[in-house]
Amino acid sequence: MVDTDNFTKVAEVDDIPEGEGEGFEINGIEIAVFNTGDEYYAISNRCSHQRAPLCKAGDRKINAEDTWTEERGGVDTEACTVSCPWHLWEWDLETGEHEASGQHIGTFDCTVDGDDILVRI
Ligand code: FES
Repeated sequence: MVDTDNFTKVAEVDDIPEGEGEGFEINGIEIAVFNTGDEYYAISNRCSHQRAPLCKAGDRKINAEDTWTEERGGVDTEACTVSCPWHLWEWDLETGEHEASGQHIGTFDCTVDGDDILVRI
């Protein structure tokens, strides 16, 4: 049994499908929660390169005429990483590390209690 006293509920498990993420703000801190199928991970929602919202990884972009679409970035459930939707920097969901640059972004404890996804900020 997890001691959930210092955790905040952000969503329910059905809200975030496997291989996807959602953005949340808790006490002014922007986080993204990703579902790898085995686990949920909470990391900063802002890429340290140019501050793209990581929760948009894998979303489809549509241009003004709706004639061109492209998916950018996404979750790699096997590698446990998310690639940024803007320039595809790959972030480790467990450690918050971008290996190529050595930069880190914040990670937060994330757990499931019943159907609730909880994050400790
Ligand atoms: S803003 Fe994320 S890789 Fe550039």
